[in-house]
Amino acid sequence: MGRAFVYVIVGGGVAAGYAALEFTRKGVSDGELCIISDEPVAPYERPALSKGFLLPEDPTRLPSFHTCVGANDEILTPKWYKEHGIELVLGTRVKSVDARRLTLVTSTGETITYNFLIIATGARALKLEEFGVEGSDAENVCYLRDLSDADRLATAIQSSSNGNAVVIGGGYIGMECAASLVINKINVTMVLAGAHCMARLFTPKIATFYEDYYMGKGVKFIKGTVLTSFEFDSDKKVTAVNLKDGNQLPADLVVVGIGIRPNISLFEGQLIIEKGGIKVNSQMQSSESSVYAIGDVATFPVKLYGEMRRLEHVDFARKSARHAVSAIMEPEKTGEFDYLPCFYSRFFAFSWQFYGDHVGEVVHFGEYDEGKVFGAYWVKEGHLVGCFLEGGTKEQYETISKATQLKPAVTDMEELEREGLGFTQTV
Ligand code: FDA
Repeated sequence: MGRAFVYVIVGGGVAAGYAALEFTRKGVSDGELCIISDEPVAPYERPALSKGFLLPEDPTRLPSFHTCVGANDEILTPKWYKEHGIELVLGTRVKSVDARRLTLVTSTGETITYNFLIIATGARALKLEEFGVEGSDAENVCYLRDLSDADRLATAIQSSSNGNAVVIGGGYIGMECAASLVINKINVTMVLAGAHCMARLFTPKIATFYEDYYMGKGVKFIKGTVLTSFEFDSDKKVTAVNLKDGNQLPADLVVVGIGIRPNISLFEGQLIIEKGGIKVNSQMQSSESSVYAIGDVATFPVKLYGEMRRLEHVDFARKSARHAVSAIMEPEKTGEFDYLPCFYSRFFAFSWQFYGDHVGEVVHFGEYDEGKVFGAYWVKEGHLVGCFLEGGTKEQYETISKATQLKPAVTDMEELEREGLGFTQTV
């Protein structure tokens, strides 16, 4: 026994929510679209989990951060899906998919058939066990990928006031969580495998600015080492972490942010996989013509750079979702996806955005000393390819995004440094 839909989205995260909105804009009929999610709630803006959700006072809670509030669209509450005739199957895992026969089976044993499938299964947090460290199921060891993780972390924060937290990893999860822990009056030590925070994106100069600020807030950094084991009490709670460099750090709470892996196992052997994600074309269409992939799980052609990439950022989840729905519902009107990579983060009172590619030579500009508006340009083969900006206005972010997309020629690096942010206004 089972149901049939024209369109099925597997996964109910950011990309699924934005796809649902786009389906309604393109005129989906009642009963045609179904979203299946193993989370118990309707799609929400995942980035809120490490920011507003962890605030000590007046924390953000659902329904206020359901999609698509992040792009100033409507808030898609469960009522919205009902009113738009969209079947929301929550708390239900898709256990298997037959991409060729256009069927899937859920954890309740139901078989669902579809004409088009959109894969929006996102990613999972990498576990310490995958690096040979045991004990990450202890109640005071927290990961952060979904709402249940965030609930668990918020509870652990409450019971660790004035205590010690160790944050493993200096990516955006580590940086945002460390700031939230400080705001919750917890002493934080960050353990970084590399030489500085946000190692994949930040230059040493950018990283030094933020690290100095964190240190001013009492955060300690231990760099160039990794966690090797935990110490436990008789209740199996972690009491300390042991590091490879011999350090032992007392811990009431451990937050682990060491990377993610896309959820692609349902499709291995059925669809072409590239760079760890599901390979799609410029319409977000996989190697099976009825199956599309969006968000963290998709490896897509970045037209601007002529190469295939997988991006783990919310802006891409939103825009790839819109593009896939448009390609499915209005194929003749939908051109190639021409996406400029965009990534942002917020911690303490800081807020930055990055556009483009962080390769080539770097030029820094702006007021690093005052910590107000500052940034960096990346220049490759005589063209501007990337721009980072802290503390910009909405208009300034729009300007740098447009300029970066155009890849303007840069002939004189010193001149670029002198012009600073003004350069993008002249493009
Ligand atoms: P997403 O993970 O949102 O959704 C996937 C959904 O599929 C989940 O609901 C999952 O449970 C479900 N699922 C998986 N397998 C399933 C199955 N077999 N059956 C049913 N359901 C299944 N980005 C950024 O640019 N700036 C930022 O500041 C942040 N901040 C941030 C904070 C935190 C805490 C996280 C975890 C992530 C961010 N991100 C971010 C990244 C951003 O949130 C991420 O890129 C998007 O959520 C990706 O959207 P997707 O829809 O692809 O996956």
